[in-house]
Amino acid sequence: MQDQYGRKITYMRISVTDRCNLRCRYCMPEDIERLPREDLLTFDELVCVAELAAKHGIRAVKLTGGEPLVRRNIWELVAALKAVDGIEQVTMTTNGVLFSEYADALLDAGLDAVNISLDTLRPDRFLQITGSDAWEAAWNGLQAALRKNIPVKINCVLQSQINQDEWKDLAELARNLPVAVRFIEMMPIGAGADYEAVSEAWLREQLSEVFGELTPVKVAGNGPAAYVKPAGFVGSIGFISALHGPFCTHCNRLRLTSIGELKPCLCYRERIPLRGALRAGDLAQVEGRIVQAIRQKPKGHCFSDRAAVTEQRQMAQIGG
Ligand code: 5AD
Ligand code: SF4
Repeated sequence: MQDQYGRKITYMRISVTDRCNLRCRYCMPEDIERLPREDLLTFDELVCVAELAAKHGIRAVKLTGGEPLVRRNIWELVAALKAVDGIEQVTMTTNGVLFSEYADALLDAGLDAVNISLDTLRPDRFLQITGSDAWEAAWNGLQAALRKNIPVKINCVLQSQINQDEWKDLAELARNLPVAVRFIEMMPIGAGADYEAVSEAWLREQLSEVFGELTPVKVAGNGPAAYVKPAGFVGSIGFISALHGPFCTHCNRLRLTSIGELKPCLCYRERIPLRGALRAGDLAQVEGRIVQAIRQKPKGHCFSDRAAVTEQRQMAQIGG
């Protein structure tokens, strides 16, 4: 279905939990409050929303969190979503820590692609960024995903005080591996607002100085990333630049939070609750609200004007 600005909405990010086995400070500050477990949508409820959304043109879904792999038996949800009429693709964004353990089950369930968040190649920095010494587990998760031959993207958020100097080492991963290494600008959502974004322009300058010409390439995906391939690279380098890039004219997404609210845009407080109607069995109302959320999508985000950002919650509570 098209929104009022003529954008075709085909992609839904589904947060399956606000819990995570890591504590990246920009996403999950120490004092974060957990959402009540009984408020999280069940797998059956999530599938029901996906079925109704597919009726209105959603073709791809991405499971996010928190960390989706901490939700018990998550592969069962992958399989159930893959079986929904109209849903062509089910993918996941994960920190990778549990991925190698669950890779077989996820692939058997039909997972189509995976994004692994990895902000650093140094275990000591991983500890500093995530509060956990699980760098090796995350790295093994990445290796397991590569062995499975599904499309793999690596998400890196650079922070000026911590890992900004790793742009080259991270980008180098794409030289010999068939991965897209994507640099995501820190967005001023929740604790992320306390950090300064490393801009795409700065990064492009550094990259082209070291790697030469950055030839634009297309990489399959549903998001707003722009990709380049330096000469001799097997993989590619991507930029997701909410702050410094034009972003919204091609926006194709809805977000579903783990407690069953649709968010038309990351930047604003607006959410359309589905859980009540779902649990009351009023599917006509749920469907109407999905249509309403698509209609209500604003023309663009407002990250460049921080005062206009009305979303108050943390990324892990919204779905990264
Ligand atoms: N800005 C940009 N990216 C963020 N993520 C979490 N919080 C933010 C933020 N404020 C990223 C994680 C992960 C993805 C799911 O979202 O690093 O790669
Ligand atoms: Fe967990 Fe990802 Fe948030 Fe880090 S960014 S705390 S890995 S959900």
